[in-house]
Amino acid sequence: MMNESSLDVLTSLCKRRGFIYHSSEIYGGIPGFWDYGPLGCEMKRNIKEDWWKTTVRNREDVEGLDATIIMHPAVWKASGHLDTFSDPMTMCKSCKKLMRADQIWDIFDENEIGVTLHKLLDQSGGDPSKIVAWCKGKARGQTPNLPAVLNASVLTAAYEQLCNNNLTDMDAHTLYSLFANAGSDITITPCPHCGGELTKPRPFNLMFKTVVGPVDDEKNTAYLRPETAQAIFVQFQNVLATSRQRVPFGIAQIGKSFRNEVTPRNYTFRSREFEQMELEYFIRPDEAVEIICGKVTKLTDNPDISAPNESWGWEVWHKYWVEQRKQWVAQCGLPTESFVESVHADEELAHYARACVDLEYRFPFGLQELEGIAARSDFDLSQHQKHSGKTMEVFDETLKLAARKMDDKSRADFADKVAEKWRTLGKEDSQARDFVARLFEGRYVPHVIEPSAGVDRMMLALLCNAYEEQKLVDEKGKEDSRVVLHLEPRIAPVKVAVFPLVKNKPELYGKAREIFEHLRRRYASFWDHSGAIGRRYRRQDEIGTPWCVTIDFQTLNDGTMTVRNRDSMEQLRMTLSELKIMMDKALLV
Ligand code: GAP
Repeated sequence: MMNESSLDVLTSLCKRRGFIYHSSEIYGGIPGFWDYGPLGCEMKRNIKEDWWKTTVRNREDVEGLDATIIMHPAVWKASGHLDTFSDPMTMCKSCKKLMRADQIWDIFDENEIGVTLHKLLDQSGGDPSKIVAWCKGKARGQTPNLPAVLNASVLTAAYEQLCNNNLTDMDAHTLYSLFANAGSDITITPCPHCGGELTKPRPFNLMFKTVVGPVDDEKNTAYLRPETAQAIFVQFQNVLATSRQRVPFGIAQIGKSFRNEVTPRNYTFRSREFEQMELEYFIRPDEAVEIICGKVTKLTDNPDISAPNESWGWEVWHKYWVEQRKQWVAQCGLPTESFVESVHADEELAHYARACVDLEYRFPFGLQELEGIAARSDFDLSQHQKHSGKTMEVFDETLKLAARKMDDKSRADFADKVAEKWRTLGKEDSQARDFVARLFEGRYVPHVIEPSAGVDRMMLALLCNAYEEQKLVDEKGKEDSRVVLHLEPRIAPVKVAVFPLVKNKPELYGKAREIFEHLRRRYASFWDHSGAIGRRYRRQDEIGTPWCVTIDFQTLNDGTMTVRNRDSMEQLRMTLSELKIMMDKALLV
């Protein structure tokens, strides 16, 4: 398992071998922006390709979309991003540093002050004197604006409280707050950088603004999309009309998103420009399912969720997509024990959301969101219907036919039941009855399940999981070591490396080139003729190449070559056709 310091080793490997560079590095870089080098862009493509094949091409019920990054600004008003897509931001009144109010203690834990205070508490043995000595000494340089450093009476009050408390139970956050607030009536949150007072958090909108057209004024303001999802809602009717799909079906999109993150951090984990892979899967409202099937299958019915069923309600569809997403994450190479499902508590959900599950991966800096799967009701389509004045309803013939079979009494009972349920959700009786009347005509605004993943985050997780430093002992007992990326063959940037055993035998060299030219038309391949074969293997191990092929004199006689497996280091002789069969099997999604 990687720790935070091994993340530095991985970062340096990624730079050295051409996976990831700082954007605009020659000008000192720009925080939150990253470039993917020759190997990085291949790996990223492989992740996207795998997602696309699994989510779109291998399914009959999902269509693709590639929409623009800049859309009509009204999209962002309707979606709620203009008004609510913000992070709470705070500023230190002393050092003027800006930070996310909900990340103060994470920043504290990661920097020198946090590390020092955690250590001092561990080593105190219950005696506060060393901690107080820190406040009188090193803290003057580390946290010059901490009230206990500036003011002797705060330090005295803190000392008294430390003497009266059991220090072995105290954590570093409480200790730092004590040095900021002891003996005072007002409580401040101390800056994790200098100990100064932080301002009250204020919402900071994360959308990047730009101007469309030559005149830089309010009217021409547009935004770089903060998620790819909204374009899918906006183009919903076009895709429906042109693809001949019927609900339930999905629309998928991969593309760039932009968020002006207050504190981009943890390498590429939280970037300002990143790529998303999003699916909006449109389903019938449960009430429509009930009319068609006579019942709605719920999770409590313990349904088989391996293949979709018409009677599923939103709960089961949500669970189905969580399972599909877990399978994909595992298929890309993350062991199932390396990520967990985190279910959002009701109070964490947006008002329109019914459920949300995050898949969280154990990154070296902690358990963090890899992707989210949300059940968003009909909120998004209804918002766009309201703001654009264009209908987002679908016509569902099956529903209309099923409704036609209901007699007047069952229709009236059904309407009463829906109105009763909606009342408990705070909705008006008339809204419920209008909705039911439209259902009887076969019309409704679809609900949506949204699996939303980040390409960059997935790539970081895969790199962290794949990295290993191995100690080896050769046949003669000689110790050696290697760095290896155990990437899934489908995800690895280079699939096969071809080596001629020697450079100076034209016939052998020519044969090796011929095999390389043949393979590169089909697979991302790498040619290497320099250095000992062992060193060539090491260079490929470090970038995760699953197979290395050595062409030797025997190849000239019988067409076989040595194929060396990256993980087992096993070497087998096989022909070119056998190699292609083996590779195709491993690379197929
Ligand atoms: N449409 C829903 C949506 O955008 P989100 O949880 O904000 O939901 C979905 O984002 C995924 O996008 C996240 O799980 C993550 O993988 C990726 N993501 C979000 N913000 C990111 C950032 N600043 N840097 C890198 N990836 C990010």
